[in-house]
Amino acid sequence: MNRIVDSSFGGRINAFFGSRCAFLFAKGRVGLYAGLRAMGLPLGAKVLMPGYTCMVVPSAVQYAGLMPGYVDIDPNTYNINPALLHSLDASDVAALIVQHTYGIPCDMAAIQAWAAPRNIAIIEDCCHSFGSKIDGRLCGTFGQFAFMSGQWNKPFSTGLGGMLLVNDPTLAEAVEQLVEKELKQPHSKTNLILRCQIAAYDLLVRPSTAMLLTLIYRALNRLGVVKGSSSTQELRGEMPSDYFTAMAPCQIRRGLREIARIDENIRHRTELTAFYHGELPKIGFTPLDVPGIERQPLLRYPVRVANKAEIVKLAVRKGVEIGSWFECPLHPEGTRQEDFGYRSGMCPESERAAREVVNLPTHLKAGAQTAKKVLEFLRRYAEPVK
Ligand SMILES: Cc1ncc(COP(=O)(O)O)c(C=O)c1O
Repeated sequence: MNRIVDSSFGGRINAFFGSRCAFLFAKGRVGLYAGLRAMGLPLGAKVLMPGYTCMVVPSAVQYAGLMPGYVDIDPNTYNINPALLHSLDASDVAALIVQHTYGIPCDMAAIQAWAAPRNIAIIEDCCHSFGSKIDGRLCGTFGQFAFMSGQWNKPFSTGLGGMLLVNDPTLAEAVEQLVEKELKQPHSKTNLILRCQIAAYDLLVRPSTAMLLTLIYRALNRLGVVKGSSSTQELRGEMPSDYFTAMAPCQIRRGLREIARIDENIRHRTELTAFYHGELPKIGFTPLDVPGIERQPLLRYPVRVANKAEIVKLAVRKGVEIGSWFECPLHPEGTRQEDFGYRSGMCPESERAAREVVNLPTHLKAGAQTAKKVLEFLRRYAEPVK
């Protein structure tokens, strides 16, 4: 139903990925939830994911009646470390969520070689990756299904929003049935609020204002004044009553506008990725040690610094856009990690990355001047991690 109504945006997404069905939801996490429900996995089965993600990923798993489990990341790629998969007990694992963090592609060959003989389904979290490729093949085309986010700071924004891509006809049919039976349509008031938020975002958010406005937006969300990424209820792990909701018309319109300029978006991100990659060593910072990374359209370019807390605060004051996520293994800070089955020390590399990594903007509003300003800020105030 949702797919047919939104055929033009969904159709453009399908055309980009060569997928069969694109379903449009209120958020990316809802796409994950729908895909998991449609898979019909046994209740309580384990779904693995990197211990370096947003808490809404394990919460979607829990809402679907499944159990999240965590695998540590490779410190070079910030993605699941495939070597660690071999040492874990996979007897109760039904699925593995691979997340192409910051747009850096996962080592899919190694992951598939582990998952296939064990009959473990692969799900791709493409919330950071739209256009990243592995040997010419798009991330998002390797798993049983892929989900994407249209949240504000994602590859393109639908003003919150999310997509689910399915190729397998049986799974697509199961999603379709779930959607027909349970999916709520957004309230007209929700559409109006989102329209206003999209307009405010377009008008006000610039690299120089992004950090301050993010703090204000989070505070307004806590007060219930704006539609935020996650409600306080959700941050506590409780499923909101309007969770399983379709994308609103204003979000679909914005999605259409953004997908029309996706080539420009990808070109721009790739150029800035290459720029940071070439310039960071000149100012004493270690660039990513991932072959061919300068040809990928990263969502953000991650850099390790020894004084993260200090420079993130300073960046707000100086009007420089420096991202701080992920601030803990299950972002954001303040999330009770144990509510989602994460115990301190489970993923030491993720915990270290959360302490050290800041990320640099590559989006269309960040031009060459912004990128230079960001690097100059790092050069002056940040201490490299050696
Ligand atoms: C890696 C990752 N996965 C999933 C999500 C969830 O996306 P959404 O906010 O659209 O539900 C996010 C969003 O912040 C994310 O960073």
